[in-house]
Amino acid sequence: MTKKIDPCTLVLFGATGNLARVKLYPGLYRLDLLGRLPENMKIMGVGRRPIDHEKWCEGIKDMVHKKFKGKVDEAVLARFIARNVYKANEPDDAQAFDKMKDILSDESVYPQNFAYFLSVRPVDFGPIVEELAKVGLTQEDKYWRRVVVEKPFGTDLPSAKALQASLTKNLDEHQIYRIDHYLGKSALQNILLQRFTNTILEPLWNNEYIDHVQITNTEKLGVGDRTEFYDSTGALRDMIQSHVLQTLALTTMEMPKDLTPDGIREAKIDVLEQIRPIPVDELEKHAFRAQYAAGEVAGEKVPGYLEELGDDSSVVETYAALKLFIDNPRWKGVPFYIRTAKRLHEADTRIAIRFKKAPMQINGGQDQNWLVIGIQPRECIKMEIQSKIPGLDINTRTIELDADNRKSEDDTVDAYEALLLNLMQGDNANYLHISEAEAQWRLVDPVVKAWAEDRKPVHQYPAGSQDPEASKVIFESEDQFWRYSIALGGDKH
Ligand SMILES: NC(=O)c1ccc[n+]([C@@H]2O[C@H](COP(=O)([O-])OP(=O)(O)OC[C@H]3O[C@@H](n4cnc5c(N)ncnc54)[C@H](OP(=O)(O)O)[C@@H]3O)[C@@H](O)[C@H]2O)c1
Repeated sequence: MTKKIDPCTLVLFGATGNLARVKLYPGLYRLDLLGRLPENMKIMGVGRRPIDHEKWCEGIKDMVHKKFKGKVDEAVLARFIARNVYKANEPDDAQAFDKMKDILSDESVYPQNFAYFLSVRPVDFGPIVEELAKVGLTQEDKYWRRVVVEKPFGTDLPSAKALQASLTKNLDEHQIYRIDHYLGKSALQNILLQRFTNTILEPLWNNEYIDHVQITNTEKLGVGDRTEFYDSTGALRDMIQSHVLQTLALTTMEMPKDLTPDGIREAKIDVLEQIRPIPVDELEKHAFRAQYAAGEVAGEKVPGYLEELGDDSSVVETYAALKLFIDNPRWKGVPFYIRTAKRLHEADTRIAIRFKKAPMQINGGQDQNWLVIGIQPRECIKMEIQSKIPGLDINTRTIELDADNRKSEDDTVDAYEALLLNLMQGDNANYLHISEAEAQWRLVDPVVKAWAEDRKPVHQYPAGSQDPEASKVIFESEDQFWRYSIALGGDKH
């Protein structure tokens, strides 16, 4: 299904920044290459420093060449460059937005449907929208006006509500596109399709058959040079509040009434709002945090988090795990264990579902079935089932059905490419509704607060190791623990 795109102008605030350089301009070039940009589309990059046109065009060429080394179509690049202009909004220029309006109002150059991409610091989201509104640039009449706000949408529930209040002074909900770039990944979009387009999965997808679910997002990397950012954020807010809870929502939502953006988002909102609040009075049974200590990753010695930070009083987590329950008929009683970590033994994002014990137990009980959906690096679906070992005796072993969701000839589309296209199409299914952002903050806020107040030294795990044994405290049953790998046998410790 290819959706139509209106002619439009993209105004990119923060055009000189890292995200614009690494993702947005290369993504837009790729969309041009694929013939997915509307014919007369224009792109206005906005920064605070003046940059002359020639230099700006050279800069974009450089970004594209860096990203697609040796694989750039020069004719398309020339066409792409011709779509671009740069405009400096200098901080001391009180007329900056009036001037922007004057430039944009030239209909012979700029298609009048405007999308504003705010790739700037979150504190600038509100003020930029306010300035755009003052000069009438957010007003929708004949043409649409859309605003993309980058992650994070607030740093807790009150700040998310405050940001929302400042945006909705000038915008309606349908104009606001909140980024969680995981939703632009094909592997995430596939969860919904794989669940509901296969008869063999949906009937088993409930508390009658499922023992527990694990959602994992781990990295081998440490915090690198982002220590300051990281120490003010932590794993829970950085990854769980956004990407991991969205993965959970897609895994657990009811079938949407249709595949419209509203249909999909309503079903996600419902399930996010049904997650039981985490009881802070018995937090240790529901949440676990840790920090990586010095260790070894890929044969290299690496320092611990506190050492990198240069502050051993920090209690900010680099490993966060939660146990969640969803209070609805489908999921009543099923624990969901979700975790994210830096400097673990492997980098992997996956959903792993363990099924209940089979009706027939032989030889003291065989392994339970697992269904594992790999998100990255491998996009795959695997099922572990029991099978008779050929021979004279009655014994079973675990075998796996293993299928790639991605074939080598498939196109690789960056999440930002997909999201930029959706923005121009007016399809906000893969952007967050405010109710999703709020439900996610409502869930994690009490844990963030309790952890920040508890100044006891945080559990340490050696960099490059598997999950800390101490994280076992959040598991409901003795026979449950983290699957440490997607591979067959990845549940054995
Ligand atoms: N980088 C990533 O991979 C990534 C990932 C997820 C989320 N994000 C989010 O994306 C946003 C941008 O990230 P980034 O890494 O690109 O930040 P960045 O490198 O600091 O870039 C921000 C750019 O915005 C420009 N700028 C600042 N205020 C402005 C204003 N009022 N009007 C126009 N331009 C302005 C600055 O350029 P001048 O000095 O030239 O004005 C700067 O180059 C942030 O909200 C971040 O949280 C980024």
